Amino acid sequence: MDEDNRVTRRRVGDAEARHANRRWWDADADAYQAEHGHFLGDVDFVWCPEGLREADARLLGEVAGRRVLEVGCGAAACARWLATQGARPVAVDLSAGMLRHAGQAAERSGVRVPLAQADALALPFAAETFDIACTAFGAVPFVDDSAALMREVHRVLRPGGRWVFSVTHPMRWVFLDDPGEGGLTAVHSYFDTRPYVEQDERGVASYVEQHRTLGDRVRELVAAGFRLVDLVEPDWPEGHQGIWGQWSPLRGRLFPGTAIFVTEKPAG
Ligand SMILES: C[S@@+](CC[C@H](N)C(=O)[O-])C[C@H]1O[C@@H](n2cnc3c(N)ncnc32)[C@H](O)[C@@H]1O
Repeated sequence: MDEDNRVTRRRVGDAEARHANRRWWDADADAYQAEHGHFLGDVDFVWCPEGLREADARLLGEVAGRRVLEVGCGAAACARWLATQGARPVAVDLSAGMLRHAGQAAERSGVRVPLAQADALALPFAAETFDIACTAFGAVPFVDDSAALMREVHRVLRPGGRWVFSVTHPMRWVFLDDPGEGGLTAVHSYFDTRPYVEQDERGVASYVEQHRTLGDRVRELVAAGFRLVDLVEPDWPEGHQGIWGQWSPLRGRLFPGTAIFVTEKPAG
């Protein structure tokens, strides 16, 4: 296989995606935390590279006393921040490497939350265990059957509970992953929902990231039984010079980089 075939767009089922992403996040955990850990903090809830914080946005509603599930938690900074606000969080992630960083950050900060290694498609909790579920870029962009993920989160939420998640804004998939001028020209079809795949010389996926259109996401949420409360598209703050992968001030001034879906499981 030549170098060009190492990056492709093709369908990948959840078994292959799970295997690829667990290995990728395990291998990348140290580098990811070295690059982004400072921006994310040890005890902080940052929704996106634009820097929107839950402390300001309050998308989860009242959290004090609430049982909160952080799905695809990475180093679990959000869950630790929630604990400092009086919530009762549990944080899960597929990757032992990312959870190792969660353990280290708990030691550093002195804020400890329960951690579990689990696939978001098979959450190890009884029905209606949580009042709130959330994730900042965890799990949702990495599973093929995202409709099943929505149903799984719906199952573990109590009626009236809230599910809030951030993902790369679907319109970003039209552009190259380039924070500079090269990332300002539309080159891909928005309607091509085959995932971005990196694969080894045998054609086995080593990293998989999924694209859904805005309509796909809304449809999957509604089919799972959620009500869409808000769709937040954080703007790029004045003076924010940070670059995170394809997120940059240049692009952030022109179009959204993040979509945050705020949803509720109806009460009755
Ligand atoms: C971009 S990180 C986001 C984590 C954290 N919020 C942050 O900002 O660093 C994505 C996380 O999703 C996790 N993940 C990927 N697929 C998953 C799955 N199927 N179930 C649970 N977690 C998953 C990865 O292991 C990784 O820790």
